[in-house]
Amino acid sequence: MNFTSDNVHGVDDAILDALRDVNTGTARAYGYDDWSAAAEARLRDVFECDLAAFLVVTGTAANSLALAACCPPYGAVVCHAEAHITTDECGAPELFSGGAKLMGVGGAACKLTPAAVARMLEQMGRGEHEQRPSVLSISQATELGTTYAPDEIAALAAVARDRRMHVHMDGARFANACARLGGSPADLTWKSGVDVLSFGATKNGALGVEAVLFFDRTLAGDFVYLRKRTGQLVSKGRFLAAQMLAYLDDDRWLRNARHANAMADRLAAAVRALPGGRVRLPLPVEANAVFAIVPAALHAHLQAAGARYLVWPGAGPGTDTVADGEVFIRLLTSFRTTLEDVDAFTAAASAGAARR
Ligand SMILES: Cc1ncc(COP(=O)(O)O)c(C=O)c1O
Repeated sequence: MNFTSDNVHGVDDAILDALRDVNTGTARAYGYDDWSAAAEARLRDVFECDLAAFLVVTGTAANSLALAACCPPYGAVVCHAEAHITTDECGAPELFSGGAKLMGVGGAACKLTPAAVARMLEQMGRGEHEQRPSVLSISQATELGTTYAPDEIAALAAVARDRRMHVHMDGARFANACARLGGSPADLTWKSGVDVLSFGATKNGALGVEAVLFFDRTLAGDFVYLRKRTGQLVSKGRFLAAQMLAYLDDDRWLRNARHANAMADRLAAAVRALPGGRVRLPLPVEANAVFAIVPAALHAHLQAAGARYLVWPGAGPGTDTVADGEVFIRLLTSFRTTLEDVDAFTAAASAGAARR
């Protein structure tokens, strides 16, 4: 019953096997091995594009390095005010870029709208007295588990293009979004105007690998220097590549994400059906996250029953507010969440709800 994060689960067995398989003989170091070349080729197939791919170890590094590649030190990155890059990365995007400023824009359900971004950009027209808007960053899926359809991405990218800005996508949970939306990876990225994607794998079954994918290769020019300088050039690179290859093999990335999403749907259906009508799901379930507003007494009951999840900070998701005596919680499912986990939670929640 641990829904705290998709990171609390271990590693997909097939990915562990792949690590064992490459653990023989010698190979060129620092990503100049055959597996690294194969991983880049495979990513080109999946995204149907002549992209440039760079493997790193964490999502924070992927985001921060991708932004550093697109944004000068005197530039600004426009993002949602609750985006992971601005709330949860300890200033790494600012550090790696040498001082870029993150400009947060509000928006319900953690989503940016073209109008809100345009408004922010209109306010930023004072030349060198402020930082130059250089990148628009969007999260797919968002930090509240919502997603952007291709036309929404394209509309945001058009606003960025008007200001000659690049478009970055934080895809720590890109697989969950892609599995849910059903579009092709290409449709959800470069065909909709995304220049660079942080393509997550760790949350969805890898041990620790993420790819920075440049659809606009001109932005990748000095990336190898940025990656080395920030300590993200892994000497035994074949072990990152082996993870990425196994992740993509046989659509494992999508199969894992579909499973996580299905578990989230089951959880959401169970929570919606709780007796008493006092639990609210203020957000659509569009990836592998279920957000709920629950009475404090039910929260206490669930905790006592051993359910683990996050109490989400803030007064509400922008579509609903949390009243006194209520708690806003996040339940996250993963490739390894089981039916038993979900059903145990449902039983505990039903028992708790029936008590009032
Ligand atoms: C939306 C999003 N982006 C990026 C990250 C960063 O990943 P990591 O913890 O591997 O640095 C996370 C992690 O929670 C995330 O939720």
